Amino acid sequence: MLAEEIKSVAELMDRDTPIAVLTGAGISAESGVPTFRGEGGLWRQFRAEDLATPEAFQRDSKLVWEWYDWRRGLMAKVKPNPGHQTLARWEARFPEFALITQNIDGLHAQAGSKRIIELHGNIWKTRCLAEGQVSDNNDVPLKEIPPRCPSCGAMLRPHVVWFGESLDADELDRAFAASRRCRLMFVVGTSAVVHPAASLPVIAAQAGALVIEINPDPTPLTAEADFSFRGKAGDILPLLDQQLMKISRD
Ligand code: OAD
Repeated sequence: MLAEEIKSVAELMDRDTPIAVLTGAGISAESGVPTFRGEGGLWRQFRAEDLATPEAFQRDSKLVWEWYDWRRGLMAKVKPNPGHQTLARWEARFPEFALITQNIDGLHAQAGSKRIIELHGNIWKTRCLAEGQVSDNNDVPLKEIPPRCPSCGAMLRPHVVWFGESLDADELDRAFAASRRCRLMFVVGTSAVVHPAASLPVIAAQAGALVIEINPDPTPLTAEADFSFRGKAGDILPLLDQQLMKISRD
């Protein structure tokens, strides 16, 4: 049954097929990055309104930065897994391939993906509160908390999207365009409850794409998906890749 479904999906993946992939925290779970909502998820341990809102940052920027510093420490220790690696290979294989992620951990880039639409920002980037300038910052731990802008001395914030904030308009436009254009949309490791990311597969489906979900657990999207692989990203994506290799050899 699984083998047959893998074969059916791989057969749809011609080289000229426009493909979009939406990833969430689940793809990094096998690398050791905690998810948000499942067992051991961050939002079971912490309250988002205390740590991941503009109001929380205004109230206690030190506390918020300490939390991000802790998460950066966790993320610095982990490596991309076969799920990330497969998607990096697909970017090179398919001329029309869009990788849209809700993750801020930078693991797709570390796996070799080059064109990544980062809907929720990147934990390895800071933004100056005075000038808005975005910079890379890989210090673990941070040299000072809260960190300050090297050029103007103003406080920096994590370059991530918090609850109640808008997503970057350019990134979102690119994500919408890729979702409307694709013929196949893979939805990997997301609980599909946070919008606007969760509406991208719906947009793709309305534009005629087939939706393929990869997740060990069902989500609100499962009933709408054309294929639903109930498994781990690090298992299913490599199986699809192996099948693609087999087809191209036959
Ligand atoms: P969630 O924690 O909500 O969901 C993670 C999903 O991954 C769940 O559906 C799990 O079943 C699934 N999962 C777990 N292990 C997996 C594996 N090995 N392979 C595949 N799937 C697996 O994370 P997101 O959907 O990414 O937003 O959450 C969306 C947003 O909510 C995040 O980007 C973050 C959070 O609040 C912001 O920080 C703005």
